[in-house]
Amino acid sequence: MYHHRLIAIGVLALLSLPAAATAFPDADIVAGEKHHQKYCIACHEQKYGGKDGSDIYIRVDRKVNSPSALSQQITSCTTMLNLDLFPEDEMNIAGYLNKHYYKFK
Ligand code: HEC
Repeated sequence: MYHHRLIAIGVLALLSLPAAATAFPDADIVAGEKHHQKYCIACHEQKYGGKDGSDIYIRVDRKVNSPSALSQQITSCTTMLNLDLFPEDEMNIAGYLNKHYYKFK
C-alpha cells in the first residue's frame, strides 16, 4: 500500500511540471519575432550571414551563454541602435531568440 502511494505521488509530481519550462516564460514570441525581423536581421545578416542572419546566434564561439547574458546583449544591441524599445519588447525578442536558437531552460 505504502509503496503504491509513493509511486502515485511521484507521478503527480511529474504531471505538475510545466509543459514547457523555459527561460522567458512570459515572452510574447510572435511579437518578439516581428521586432526581431524589423530591427535585428539586416545588420546581423550583412555582418555574419545565415538564414535571417541567424549565423550569429549559432556560431561556435557565440557570446551568449545564459538567459541574463542574452538580455544584456539585446539591450546593448538596441542601445547601439538608439531603439526605444520597452523592456517588455526586449523580453519578447529574448523569448523568440531563446525558443529558436539558445534554448535556455
Ligand atoms: C548595426 C548592427 C546590429 C544590429 C542592428 C543588431 N545587432 Fe546584435 N549584434 C551586432 C554585432 C556586431 C554583434 C556581435 C557582437 C560581438 O561579437 O561582440 C551582435 C551580437 C548579438 C547577439 C549575440 C550573439 C551571440 O554571440 O550569442 C545577440 C543576441 C544580438 N546581437 C541581438 C540583437 C537584437 C535582438 C537586435 C535587434 C533588436 C540586434 N542584435 C540588432 C550587431 C547588430
